Amino acid sequence: MTRLQGRVAIVTGAGQGLGKAISAALADEGASVALLGRTKQKVDDVAAELAGKGRDVMAIGCDVADRAAVDKAVAETSARFGRIDILINNAQGGALGTTSTATVDLSDEEALEYFRTGPLGSLHLMQAAFPSLRESPHAVVINFGSAVGVRGAPRMAGYSMAKEALGGLTKSTAIEWGKYGIRVNLVCPAAWSPAAETFRDENPARFEQIVRGIPLRRYGDPYDDIGRAIVGLVSDDLRFLTGATLMLDGGQIILR
Ligand SMILES: NC(=O)c1ccc[n+]([C@@H]2O[C@H](COP(=O)([O-])OP(=O)(O)OC[C@H]3O[C@@H](n4cnc5c(N)ncnc54)[C@H](OP(=O)(O)O)[C@@H]3O)[C@@H](O)[C@H]2O)c1
Repeated sequence: MTRLQGRVAIVTGAGQGLGKAISAALADEGASVALLGRTKQKVDDVAAELAGKGRDVMAIGCDVADRAAVDKAVAETSARFGRIDILINNAQGGALGTTSTATVDLSDEEALEYFRTGPLGSLHLMQAAFPSLRESPHAVVINFGSAVGVRGAPRMAGYSMAKEALGGLTKSTAIEWGKYGIRVNLVCPAAWSPAAETFRDENPARFEQIVRGIPLRRYGDPYDDIGRAIVGLVSDDLRFLTGATLMLDGGQIILR
């Protein structure tokens, strides 16, 4: 499996869940991967696991909300691997799985936490990686939205607002950076992760209803359904796709 041999990827939130699975899928295809995570120990553990299988990876502690930390992480990645071709903005903080706040009670601080770790964190990474991406003939950015952004959900206004903002960042930058050959797409996944498990445990009836509404009748596998799809999306097979919103969710939401 060498479709991405010679390419360098950054994955944020790589310490667990979808970020971990995407990192493994990219590395399995030959990419060198910088694993960025807020909790350094988690990305260290993932890096050790992947390096044990012979993959070319490095772990960097990085809170994407901290612009200086992002600049440093991107510089470290370039110094170690020499280039950046692929940026996967997977990290998202705020109450992802827990029973979140009703709109009338949503504080500025809670709302800002979704924005700092989601759209602003992704913007920081895109800005810091831009000089390297511009030089790459295979440059691609994947941002992470959500079904909750596309169709809304009760008690999730903060998360939903931030995920829709990621759509705006994606579409505008796809247009602005197209002339440099940099593709920018948005993915809305539905797959098992610690956050998804917490959500299921705290909202069992609602989760069952969500899965029943998925035409493929199952929640996704983080590696086989999301990681492998990301490999396809960043490969040259999809080199003409930019500015798109892709629902990787078994048909839960069908866009027209
Ligand atoms: N799983 C789904 O079904 C689903 C559905 C819709 C959208 N999504 C989106 O898909 C992405 C991955 O979701 P997931 O389910 O894998 O989530 P998860 O299990 O909560 O994992 C998120 C990861 O992001 C990291 N992170 C959070 N804030 C960060 C920050 N400021 N800087 C760096 N890393 C940070 C976390 O690190 P720490 O553990 O160190 O805090 C964690 O490792 C997210 O963007 C999410 O919104 C997922």
